[in-house]
Amino acid sequence: MNKKLLIPKEIITADRGRNIFKNHAIEISDSNIERILPFEKELLNNYNGEIFFAGGLTVIPGFIQTHIHLCQTLFRGLADDLPLLDWLQQKIFPFEKAHNKNSLRISASLGINELILGGTTTILDMGTINHQEVIFEELTNSGIKAFAGKCMMDENDLFPSFKADTKDELERTYQLAKTFHQTSGGRINYGFAPRFVLSCSEALLKETVEMMKDFPGSIFHTHSSENKNEIAEVRKRYKKENIEYLNSISALHDHTVLAHCVHVNEEEIHLLKNKDARVAHCPSSNLKLGSGIANIPRYLKEGISVSLGADGAPCNNNLNAFVEMRLASLIQKPIHGASAMDAETTFRMATIEGAKALHLQNKTGSIEAGKKADLVFLNLKEYDQPLNEENVYSKIVYSASKQNVVHVMSEGEWIVKDGTSLIYNNEELYKKGKAELRELLKRVEEQ
Ligand code: GUN
Ligand code: FE
Repeated sequence: MNKKLLIPKEIITADRGRNIFKNHAIEISDSNIERILPFEKELLNNYNGEIFFAGGLTVIPGFIQTHIHLCQTLFRGLADDLPLLDWLQQKIFPFEKAHNKNSLRISASLGINELILGGTTTILDMGTINHQEVIFEELTNSGIKAFAGKCMMDENDLFPSFKADTKDELERTYQLAKTFHQTSGGRINYGFAPRFVLSCSEALLKETVEMMKDFPGSIFHTHSSENKNEIAEVRKRYKKENIEYLNSISALHDHTVLAHCVHVNEEEIHLLKNKDARVAHCPSSNLKLGSGIANIPRYLKEGISVSLGADGAPCNNNLNAFVEMRLASLIQKPIHGASAMDAETTFRMATIEGAKALHLQNKTGSIEAGKKADLVFLNLKEYDQPLNEENVYSKIVYSASKQNVVHVMSEGEWIVKDGTSLIYNNEELYKKGKAELRELLKRVEEQ
């Protein structure tokens, strides 16, 4: 058995009791947290494992982001300042269509690298239409925990050449789920990903709901109610609101994660609540695409599950959980008052609430005995000046960012040490990324 004893300044557990431990150590056996125990010097005598001193550092659970597009990382900065449907039509669909295996692999690697360097250890990824196995390979190799799935599209009025045949979409999805669901010791899982109502036939959506039954623990992941023009189109097609429509085809349940939920009426709020569907809130993306501001305080008041996501690099343009926490908190204050979305509530959305959204709360999302050792070590010293020593949630949510991430551990293995990725070589990734993007943009020209 591989044992480690980690000795930080403080442990922010995000557990049910909201415990913060000082002068404690975390003991790890293989991939699991064995126990949290008071630190005494005698512990060090003849300890038969790695002892890791992190005296000045604060340990938090790894962040969980419940809406990501790894395939889009390469497109950062190439699709700015457009609203959703133009952004998809003019930029994102042509770019995604032009991916080959090499460009997709580098896009996913760049995204995972950025995520882990920023302290994210679990994601729900939307995938892309072609070569999805490449994303699974990178997720598997990187050590990150993930739900992912092939993005499904069998209709596309915006960019008709970027879609696939319904039967093929379903068959490929079934094969991918069979190959990758519950692999790497349960670290990798399948997230069925019909992109959004406008890109999917009713037959495809209904078959997906049925298919999920063969893969217990899988997630139904889609975009919903992000943009006014999107929901107007859905209304025209089905005479229903977006979430109402998803409910009518049995796609709304406790394993459903809906990205955005910005434009939602009273009926739909009740549906979200009664069906226990989960909202992935993406504040940066909602602001940058001009989509709007989701009524998160209302969702929380209703007891609806809300977690956070950076969405894709070209609608953000960061994949940084700190940015999403800070914005999730700040954007609500002018609307709901300054006490809305306090720092601890927002911190929990980025950790334990993310785990609950994915039904991973017995595995991750908090620092507790029996859970996986998904840990992030932060250096928050610069925010102690002059007298902010005590409110650690304030430091994490309102002041800190990815430059404060020092070490990251996923399932008991170091993946970031001293701010350096142990999984990827940054320079190599950037060099390869540039070369692959150049080739991809040529393919876009030829489309
Ligand atoms: N709706 C459908 N596809 C997308 C996407 O790629 N990003 C966002 N933000 N919304 C979408
Ligand atoms: Fe998205």
